[in-house]
Amino acid sequence: MQKNDLGKDKYRAMIEALGEGVLLVTKKHRIALSNKSAEELLSWASPLVGKDIEKIFDDSTLSDAIDSVFKEKERKKIKITSYHSYTGDRAIIRGKGREKHYKSYITSLDDKHVVVTIMDVTRIERLAIVRQDFVSNVSHELKTPLTAISGFAETLLDDSLSREEMKGFARIIQKNSAHMQRIISDLLLLTSLDRSEMATSMVVTTDERILSEVRSYTQYKAESRNIEVEYASTGKSLICNESLIVQAVVNLVVNAISYSPENTKVTVRTKAKGGIMEFIVSDRGSGIAEENISRIFERFYRVDKARSRESGGTGLGLSIVRHIAIIHNGTIKAESKLGEGSVFTLSIPIS
Ligand SMILES: Nc1ncnc2c1ncn2[C@@H]1O[C@H](COP(=O)(O)OP(=O)(O)OP(=O)(O)O)[C@@H](O)[C@H]1O
Ligand SMILES: [Mg+2]
Repeated sequence: MQKNDLGKDKYRAMIEALGEGVLLVTKKHRIALSNKSAEELLSWASPLVGKDIEKIFDDSTLSDAIDSVFKEKERKKIKITSYHSYTGDRAIIRGKGREKHYKSYITSLDDKHVVVTIMDVTRIERLAIVRQDFVSNVSHELKTPLTAISGFAETLLDDSLSREEMKGFARIIQKNSAHMQRIISDLLLLTSLDRSEMATSMVVTTDERILSEVRSYTQYKAESRNIEVEYASTGKSLICNESLIVQAVVNLVVNAISYSPENTKVTVRTKAKGGIMEFIVSDRGSGIAEENISRIFERFYRVDKARSRESGGTGLGLSIVRHIAIIHNGTIKAESKLGEGSVFTLSIPIS
């Protein structure tokens, strides 16, 4: 490219077009120039030009870095965390979820100016944390049954055990390996739902068929807890990935059964309205406190870890339901009153 055959306006337009925020900052920390991305990234409604850097960022990380670049003329890379969000000029909203992370480069331009580039890395950082949590949760969940398996296998090697004792230990090993297998197959299902591999196999079916499948998978569990499950369907057709919708409703019904006292009633009914099919599962069980409702769809989240684990729960069931709803362009909603019961509604488009 030949030098100088681009006019000033074109350079200006190029800077405006960048996805990264660009600021030109003076020795006194005043912004001399900014592009649109900078204003968007910093959620700043009024023009940034003329403002002090200190007014925009909570701490002095950027100002200190600017000073040192003026002094040493060497490019610097920093991370900035901001807890503020500005509307208009001054109003500051503080609170959870408002935290923002930026990656910033400060480069010396001339004696009076440095160039500051800003990238919003909030999402990337959040994903990294989710991934770390996920790995640590998976390891923890698999470690518990594995410890039992290896412990009881070791005990089995003891020659002095009676045949009955040996059988008892083998059963524990069997139960724990079945639990591990379930965790792994749930995780594999979640991964394949993430990639929406299964979204393609849509078929025409009816809500009646879906509920009858659900009943066959859950009847044993309902009987073992003496819970009567009442089914009511419309008989209407719908297009969906049948086995996934069955799986989602099974997860809801198994929860309703597991988190209800014996001898109570669970109802499973469907409603078709406005092109939407709703699968509604209600129980008269323990209910879920308000503050936990928004979290129960997270992977591995359990309100009462001890109780859920006792019933073999891992905390993956509802996150699977949520994924199945998403790949059908549907929704999942939970309503609950502590001590009175819960209603879960899975809604998906009929066609
Ligand atoms: N119908 C319900 N009544 C009361 N609490 C519920 C109900 N359904 C879910 N919960 C709560 O939400 C948590 C998460 O449910 P989820 O189905 O995701 O996991 P889980 O049942 O513990 O394990 P998994 O389904 O993987 O076997 C449960 O541990 C339980 O605390
Ligand atoms: Mg469950």
